[in-house]
Amino acid sequence: MSTHRPDRNLALELVRVTEAAAMGAGRWIGRGDKNAADQGAVDAMRAMLDTVAMDGIVVIGEGEKDEAPMLYNGEHVGAGGGPEVDVAVDPLEGTRLAAFGQPNAIAVIAASERGSMFFPGGAFYMEKIAAGADAIDAVDINATPTENVNAVAKAKGRRVTDIRVVVLERERHEQLIGELRQAGARVNLIRDGDVAPAIAAARPETGVDLLYGIGGTPEGVISAAALKCVGGGIQGKLWPRNDEERQALIDTGYDLDRVLMTDDLVQSDNVFVSATGVTTGALLRGVRYVNDGAITDSIVMRSRSGTVRRIEARHRLSKLTHFTGREY
Ligand code: FBP
Repeated sequence: MSTHRPDRNLALELVRVTEAAAMGAGRWIGRGDKNAADQGAVDAMRAMLDTVAMDGIVVIGEGEKDEAPMLYNGEHVGAGGGPEVDVAVDPLEGTRLAAFGQPNAIAVIAASERGSMFFPGGAFYMEKIAAGADAIDAVDINATPTENVNAVAKAKGRRVTDIRVVVLERERHEQLIGELRQAGARVNLIRDGDVAPAIAAARPETGVDLLYGIGGTPEGVISAAALKCVGGGIQGKLWPRNDEERQALIDTGYDLDRVLMTDDLVQSDNVFVSATGVTTGALLRGVRYVNDGAITDSIVMRSRSGTVRRIEARHRLSKLTHFTGREY
């Protein structure tokens, strides 16, 4: 038995960061401007990140330095003085969802020990399957969708017709969707945002059993961090869009046949994740506005303890604006 004494849970500070980002995006929900919504989230997240005592390096951020004014890959974040961590941020995961007032947009951040996060580099997309603790060992990304949903049904002791699979609605998924339906599974098509459903797959109360298909590699790493905390997992394989990208990835040392397991995507067992809902979805409620206030709903997790918290916060906007100097 380990005799570690309870220590600081960084996630309890990171929740303020995702709450700020969600509120930064919140004013743009449904206004049709995804760039403004994203910028609102980035600015608010960046400002709050500087209050967190950690020495963070952004491994997954808004892109390269020249194109992203803030939260770019390699940027140092945090107030310093705390643990040395890799940081993955998605201030607004599902920019279009927020802009069009559709479900499942979230603000999310993950931190883990320095050097432990998979660097996506030029690997834009990956194939992924995410599942809860009761099903992740039954799936195999190299098996067919039919084999996988049958294996998941068996592992969960349910009929395959009761298995709900979330898939991004994309042309590239036509065959996958057809085969899943043919196998008897129920397919939930989503417009965007595959991080929230990946986490939801590990939360029985959401009714989601699997997240399946090709989505962003950075989102895959963030999902892996969260799944480490909530007790599920993800399998992934890099998915180049064309021959040129395939060759470039091989030339930079990526193994395209390698199955990336949760532990390959995030190697540390000391991971902290916070996500706050921007628009209401399977996992979280979105930002709601009341008289002089906003209510946020967050999920806050730490892998070492396995504690998962839900935090509902009521923010007094006039006070916040007064002491932060920023309009919420
Ligand atoms: P943004 O937040 O950058 O808009 O991305 C949302 C998202 O839907 C991700 O959740 C997903 O992994 C990826 O984009 C899918 O990419 P694409 O839209 O190119 O198929």
